[in-house]
Amino acid sequence: MSFENTLEFAKQMDEKDPLINFRDKFYIPIINKKQCIYFVGNSLGLQPKTTQDYIYKELENWANYGVEGHFHTETPWVDYHDIFTEPLSKIIGCLPKEVVVMNHLTVNLHLLLVTFYRPTKKRYKIICEAKAFPSDQYALESQVKLHGYKPDDAIIEVAPRDGEFNIRTEDILATIEKHKDELTLVLFGGINYYTGKVFDMKTITAAAHKAGVYCGFDLAHAAGNIELKLHEWNVDFACWCSYKYLNSGPGNIAGAYIHERFVTDTSLPRMAGWWGYDKESRFKMTKNFKPIPTAEGWQLSNSPIISMAAHKASLDIFEEAGMENLLKKSKFLTGYLLFILEEINSSKKKKIEIITPKKEEERGCQVSMLMLENGKDIFDALKKYGVLTDWREPDVIRVAPVPLYNTFEDVYQFGQMLQHITETK
Ligand SMILES: Cc1ncc(COP(=O)(O)O)c(C=O)c1O
Repeated sequence: MSFENTLEFAKQMDEKDPLINFRDKFYIPIINKKQCIYFVGNSLGLQPKTTQDYIYKELENWANYGVEGHFHTETPWVDYHDIFTEPLSKIIGCLPKEVVVMNHLTVNLHLLLVTFYRPTKKRYKIICEAKAFPSDQYALESQVKLHGYKPDDAIIEVAPRDGEFNIRTEDILATIEKHKDELTLVLFGGINYYTGKVFDMKTITAAAHKAGVYCGFDLAHAAGNIELKLHEWNVDFACWCSYKYLNSGPGNIAGAYIHERFVTDTSLPRMAGWWGYDKESRFKMTKNFKPIPTAEGWQLSNSPIISMAAHKASLDIFEEAGMENLLKKSKFLTGYLLFILEEINSSKKKKIEIITPKKEEERGCQVSMLMLENGKDIFDALKKYGVLTDWREPDVIRVAPVPLYNTFEDVYQFGQMLQHITETK
């Protein structure tokens, strides 16, 4: 598609956008008495206008029914989490029985590592990305120590080559091959949080399996942002949060995926709790854990319904919009952003190094801009002008136009402001 750096073009694109009305379903924060340009859905997604009603409904149920709400409300709390399996299976690309909503992202990562990090004397190493999100690094370090190994020895990091920003798939594959005899797990992000690069999950999973080891992904930046086909790609396990692209509120409930070949395997080690116990006989309260034969078998505690109501409000919007439609728009919207940034770069001296891959299949909606001069000042000035982006030390501004609520005009206006600021800083 050929883009134009004009307001007229951006407005035309918005007029033609079949998803344009979805923006009105969200509260857009106000800066300088007008709606800001919100480009930080990669950090915290916006609040749907329906969220308060969904939460209020469950508060009312609690007021009216008390404990009976577990069984006698429209969506009884005892099985409330079941309403997520269908919509999430479309977003994650899996079977409904492979997905469960529970806990928080890092908690779920630990629970999944209990099952899938099974080191032996000979095979105890993990391959992961260098500079993975810190919580993942800490989770891996602590799991490795729990089993009596040293993180420096047991964790092998794959880094970008000198002078490059992104890790090459071929280097991941070569590292797996090199260490295959001492390896037990491969764990990557679906998208690197810093650069926005999408990892080739299908190819990495196949290489891990060829080496005879499990492969899992942290999908914090991928869920609700890119096309995922976890089941088809044969991924063993994954986890994600719901507060970024899934718009479910700060620190809200997270999700986990476990491939169907494991969900009925009662021999796998796992942490257990009563909410993972066979639903038919859970309330008999007997000894000896009997897991639900789906991903739900990894649940520990009963569900936080108030939080889940906010998740439901958001996933209903995803159902209405359709993931395939969002992906289609996202490609154009971020494509337009990349076009505008190139225009800015070509207008005078190059000011921005784009470290996100340009190829559509290697990026989601996030673009990471390495600022060659005055990065922090430019970031601060953008905020003053009403554009929310996010700053990552030492010199990166991340911007994420989200197809559910951002417009082509947002991207155009952002470009105008960035151009002006970079020329005056
Ligand atoms: C890639 C990634 N992994 C893990 C986390 C930590 O998530 P939580 O605090 O929900 O456990 C984040 C948070 O932003 C993240 O971006």
